[in-house]
Amino acid sequence: MKGATTNICYNLLDRNVNEKKLGDKIAFYWEGNEPGDSAKITYSELLHKVCQFANVLRSQGVKKGDRISIYMPMILELVVAMLACARIGALHSIVFAGFSADSLCERILNCGCSLLITADAFYRGDKLINLKQIADEALQKCKEKGSPLKKCIVVKHLGREEVAVDGTCSKSPPLKRLCQDIQTPWNPAMDMWWHELMSSASTECEPEWCDSEDELFILYTSGSTGKPKGVLHTVGGYMLFAATSFKYVFDYQPEDVYWCTADIGWITGHSYLTYGPLANGATSVLFEGVPTYPDVGRMWSIVDKYKVTKFYTAPTAIRLLMKHGEEPVKKHSRKSLKVLGSVGEPINPEAWLWYYRVVGEERCPIVDTFWQTETGGHMLTPLPAATPMKPGSATFPFFGVVPAILNESGEELEGEAEGYLVFKQPWPGIMRTLYGNHQQFETTYFKKFPGYYVTGDGCRRDKDGYYWITGRIDDMLNVSGHLLSTAEVESALLEHAAISEAAVVSHPHPLKGECIYCFVTLRDGHEFTKNLMDELKKQVREKIGPIATPDYIQYAPSLPKTRSGKITRRILRKIAKNDQDLGDISTLANPGIIKHLFNGRCDTKQ
Ligand code: PRX
Repeated sequence: MKGATTNICYNLLDRNVNEKKLGDKIAFYWEGNEPGDSAKITYSELLHKVCQFANVLRSQGVKKGDRISIYMPMILELVVAMLACARIGALHSIVFAGFSADSLCERILNCGCSLLITADAFYRGDKLINLKQIADEALQKCKEKGSPLKKCIVVKHLGREEVAVDGTCSKSPPLKRLCQDIQTPWNPAMDMWWHELMSSASTECEPEWCDSEDELFILYTSGSTGKPKGVLHTVGGYMLFAATSFKYVFDYQPEDVYWCTADIGWITGHSYLTYGPLANGATSVLFEGVPTYPDVGRMWSIVDKYKVTKFYTAPTAIRLLMKHGEEPVKKHSRKSLKVLGSVGEPINPEAWLWYYRVVGEERCPIVDTFWQTETGGHMLTPLPAATPMKPGSATFPFFGVVPAILNESGEELEGEAEGYLVFKQPWPGIMRTLYGNHQQFETTYFKKFPGYYVTGDGCRRDKDGYYWITGRIDDMLNVSGHLLSTAEVESALLEHAAISEAAVVSHPHPLKGECIYCFVTLRDGHEFTKNLMDELKKQVREKIGPIATPDYIQYAPSLPKTRSGKITRRILRKIAKNDQDLGDISTLANPGIIKHLFNGRCDTKQ
């Protein structure tokens, strides 16, 4: 209805508490990194906390349309922070807590955030991450670049009082590590403790009534130019799409306990850990840790602890656990499980079958869901127990989604075919723009094939009409389900004084799906040593984050190029794989280099 107003936070919380009478229902079971460290929150408790924090934000001068940067571990306060933004019409821009200070700074600057919400520190497995320190580095860089960001709200998570009392810990031994006295760097001019601000905030807060096309959030995803793109979603369409797809794709039932293992810093955590489940009044698990800590049975022990019914994870986690065999899985009952989901990258049939046979004991349908940050929700997916499955295929379009496969000239292919995956008409959850750059939005997604939304993925349709994603066909890499561009890794390498040229290609990897293989040429006076290789890996980690750490770095006396000077990554990909079938190389300006590069391949782990 034109002129109608809504608020997504109201729909997720007030409506469930007041109209659906779900106030006492658990919204989240929080499971900490350390077994034994856990908490839970009901819908009415969540509503109160969100209202309190929304009031805190308002008291700090935040208003509708402002951008708020959130850089937090997987804790309940992260959900509270994002919904508080949504309640007052501010846009959250969540940055995955595994990203570096440079990456955080770049994202804060790009959308002009006025406030940052972060936490003191957290553990990922046995690794301590001093988040506030990284955030401070980012804020310092932002300040140097003229950012207007003047305020930072910090959750005391690792150092929280109920765990660490005067440096001693009253809890059982495994929790002792939480008590360690971490030094949280503090800047009194801008830093504020979350709990201090919350203590005096009211638990009532009138939502900001929004138009369905008002902006909801920005989430950055890698762009092929090397600069991250600020994907912008709006209130109405996104809400509808996240809620509906969650309901049908997981066959949501009120008694379900649902667990999505994705981090909220990615789109899966936005749509299928926060907005979709809460819109349906679901009970979810929010897990802070990693699948392998303290042991490789952790996922299944959590499934049993909370009697999880619907479980959603990434192929990379399945492959990792598969490597450790069936025993750690079978030690746990898992009899509560009903539906298993997969997302983020193509799932190879071997991993699919292991997931189906070992984890789900052939009783749980698998929903292999293909979608993107840009699409807001599922695009190709089976509906559990209704769609006959084929291992490795995302099967058919979700309601309202109209896919097509095009050839290079933009012609639609019928029947059995392989080509570019596109969508022919918009759907409610489609991104509305790239923040601050509508022109780039048009060129990236709509220019190559006018009239279609271009995914950037290749796809095959078989004789039965099933869709099979073949992976990215642009300059993107999908490492453990995380999208990176070759250009961003290259520019991180090029910042090193020893490097004159760099070319990065994706390379098959048994656990990560794809990994990063780099070719580098050196400036005069530099030598390719183990030390240099380590420095380059460190450089990429610091510029982007640990997920972008190169697996292979090969010295290249020069790079194969076309006569017009373009690096031919197609050939480099084949060299990395030792695939001698190079096709046509007559357009190369320097074909002689190819033999050298084959001889210099890195075929063992560096
Ligand atoms: O290449 C596809 C792959 O992940 C890309 C989107 O990445 P991102 O925007 O980070 O969102 C990830 C979570 C939705 C896609 O272009 N991808 C995602 N899901 C699948 C997939 N590839 C194959 N099968 C999937 N189920």
